[in-house]
Amino acid sequence: MSRIKRVLVVLGSVVTVLALAVGGLFLWLWTGTDVSTVGKEPFENKLAIPPLAESRLDKDGTRVFDLRMQAGEKEFEDGRKTATWGFNGAYLGPTLRAERGEKVRVRIANGLDEASTVHWHGMHLPAKMDGGPHQMIAAGGSWSPHWTIDQPAATLWYHPHPHGATEKHVQRGLAGMFIVDDDARQPDLPNRYGVDDLPVIVQDVKFDGADFDHGKGFMQNAGFLGDRTMVNGTLSPYQEVADERVRLRLLNASTARTYSFGFSDDRAFAVVGTDGGLLERPARLDRIQLSPGERAEVVVRMRPGERTVLRSFPQDNYAGAWQQRFNGGDDAFDVLQLRAADRLRPSPEVPGELARLELPKESDAVRGRHFDLKRSGINGREMAMNRVDETVVRGTTETWTVRNANGMPHNFHVHDVQFRVLEVNGEVPPPELRGPKDTVFLPHGTTMKLALRFDGPADPDTPYMYHCHLLYHEDEGMMGQFVVVEKGGRAGDVAGGAEGSHTAHDH
Ligand code: C2O
Ligand code: CU
Ligand code: CU
Repeated sequence: MSRIKRVLVVLGSVVTVLALAVGGLFLWLWTGTDVSTVGKEPFENKLAIPPLAESRLDKDGTRVFDLRMQAGEKEFEDGRKTATWGFNGAYLGPTLRAERGEKVRVRIANGLDEASTVHWHGMHLPAKMDGGPHQMIAAGGSWSPHWTIDQPAATLWYHPHPHGATEKHVQRGLAGMFIVDDDARQPDLPNRYGVDDLPVIVQDVKFDGADFDHGKGFMQNAGFLGDRTMVNGTLSPYQEVADERVRLRLLNASTARTYSFGFSDDRAFAVVGTDGGLLERPARLDRIQLSPGERAEVVVRMRPGERTVLRSFPQDNYAGAWQQRFNGGDDAFDVLQLRAADRLRPSPEVPGELARLELPKESDAVRGRHFDLKRSGINGREMAMNRVDETVVRGTTETWTVRNANGMPHNFHVHDVQFRVLEVNGEVPPPELRGPKDTVFLPHGTTMKLALRFDGPADPDTPYMYHCHLLYHEDEGMMGQFVVVEKGGRAGDVAGGAEGSHTAHDH
């Protein structure tokens, strides 16, 4: 053999071995990445129902709640104590509940050893009360936001929002539900909290021994993805039900994971509400996709003595096979088992008409804006605490066109408002997007047109946020700020607000 030939043979084998190694590594990553708990959950733990927060009425009729952010420990599994954070307890927080028209005040104490905030996701309220990154509560500090509830009945939630650290604070357990009631306009739906009206706060988790493992996997550019789910902080949960119809208030409180909820037997259910309230009429579906921060209220019909499982199914709309595999789209979870009693109390049928939508119309819009979602920032800019990105006029309606061509899933959340989805890729939105929304999922290749009305009050110096609610992206800077001003007004000087350096004051 000539020398050249020998060199070629050696080179050839080296290339082959390398190619095999790379291919093998890829195959190993590919096949080892998708997660499924389907059929594997023993459903041995009774579902925890977050207690309704106690409240008292002030002299002037304000309903006052107390929340304390604190570190704690929780035994998610027998004999293993996990370090956690929670509101008024070790993990998650109580469900706040107030009536439309009521004045509320929440007295928050930060018992953590770092600064945080408490944001009222989905709530229409003054910017100063919003609990975004400009309303930091120092370690050991307190904050007492107050406002008047002025929106339809809805399933809202609260969680911290410190710029750059939201993912961590939520992952450790700081989140809770806030139910708004509107008794005057309540259709006949299951409404006994914890009985036939259940909070279902879904989060994905991963444990390393007793501790949370919040590491991000190789090529997981959506953020942290856990390998199992829990509901209301309960692993492998079951719930006994004794009513013919059960309302589930689904909240995706996960930091990065999107779910496609349905039932193990593919039964249909009635979607009666979206993020910010009831739909005009129920939508009969067998799947509902919820990205981080989104909610849906569904009513499911039970038969005596049966068991069914709320499941999250694989999704094929992320951005192709690669994204689906590495960002959770191929995953499936058995989330919650419902066990029906042998005799069920009869429930009224889901009414055909639920509510009158209180949403802005496209024809009222006075201007349009465009938002291009990229992981590196919205409209090409990373979030800056002292920069106002958009200035809107109080009392006006706008259309916002939001586009994701970034090759990965994102979503879009706007503070203070509930908006109407006008179009999804130029088409009429599907029924589950026709109610009040504050967060929408935008897989790669999606453009949505929204109608938003900004009802103030004007405050040129205090911004509201809009952002991707995949918290890793938000923390990285996929967020912008808008202020509401009076007609002819300008944005003021929004304080730079170095994280954690000051305490928000009571007003
Ligand atoms: Cu759920 Cu800006 O937040
Ligand atoms: Cu929010
Ligand atoms: Cu994102």
